[in-house]
Amino acid sequence: MDALDQILIGSSPSMQRLKRAVRMFGRSDLPVLVHGPTGSGKELVATALHLASGRPGSLIAINICAVADSMVEATLFGHDRGAFTGAVGSATGLLREADEGTLFLDEVGGIPIATQMKLLRVLETRTFRPVGGRTDTSSNFRLVAATNDDVRHMTSDGRFRQDLLQRLCGAALEVPSLLERLEDLPALCRHLLTRQFGSEAPALEASALRRLAEHHWPGNVRELANVLQRAVLYAYDAAVTASHITSALGQERSPRQYRHPGVIGETLRACEESGWDVAAAAEELGVHKTTVYRRLARAGVYPGSSTAPLPGDARPSAQLMGPVDV
Ligand SMILES: Nc1ncnc2c1ncn2[C@@H]1O[C@H](COP(=O)(O)OP(=O)(O)OP(=O)(O)O)[C@@H](O)[C@H]1O
Ligand SMILES: [Mg+2]
Repeated sequence: MDALDQILIGSSPSMQRLKRAVRMFGRSDLPVLVHGPTGSGKELVATALHLASGRPGSLIAINICAVADSMVEATLFGHDRGAFTGAVGSATGLLREADEGTLFLDEVGGIPIATQMKLLRVLETRTFRPVGGRTDTSSNFRLVAATNDDVRHMTSDGRFRQDLLQRLCGAALEVPSLLERLEDLPALCRHLLTRQFGSEAPALEASALRRLAEHHWPGNVRELANVLQRAVLYAYDAAVTASHITSALGQERSPRQYRHPGVIGETLRACEESGWDVAAAAEELGVHKTTVYRRLARAGVYPGSSTAPLPGDARPSAQLMGPVDV
């Protein structure tokens, strides 16, 4: 068992293939596009690629969808003092921070189209100009990008440049869903329980594992970690049984929230809990209503635009579309 086996848990054929690819491409400077469903471990793969690269710099991660469109360029390329309203000082930008290291662009499909052209230029020339700057600067970073979107469909409606996609795909790594590798459940459970509870981690009865294997895991390994954490609470200090797992699974979030982790998932949760009363959700989240609408649009959800039911969603009062630029 090497260091990679301790980071990426699982020895199913699909995980073995993935780990072979991480070992093979880790040392190269090729950009890598990591594709897979939510919670499957894409960020972990980016970490593994960075460790395998041996690069002396840092791993710098950014979730594009968590940054306002108007700030994406300044965040990536940095900015000079006075470059825009509120830019009281200059900032380095993540591209420079990732110099000699790895830049991880999560949810890369959310990059505004105008920024895509600039990113393509960076990947081709290794140089870029901070917002409001007068001179070009350079950075020797290795790019790892991730997406949940179907890569073949990313470019079909013109929201993502074909040339940039080709450039990002120096190597394309597919992270398998948990459902495709249920044989990894015992090892993953051991790993996650130890990670969460250390030496206090309770035992898992065989019946509990069988119950886990019956679930479909729309939220993949992240969902498994949540379910185990709750099941252990239900079990108090005893071993976890099938009925603890059933109770923990009963409390799961909607598949839509799993598709959108972080701030967007939180916003979806608040909207679902308020029965799609956006004003109430905004108040609960402590943000303005327009922020809620912008985050929902990021997830391709438009409250009130349709009453058509969504597959797998309990409260269908919004229409699901592909992500859009807002
Ligand atoms: N193979 C694995 N071995 C151990 N832990 C894993 C594995 N895959 C995922 N995890 C854990 O599951 C959680 C979710 O993983 P991660 O954040 O990498 O998923 P993701 O694919 O980036 O999800 P999203 O698309 O929602 O951003 C993390 O806590 C991670 O440590
Ligand atoms: Mg992620």
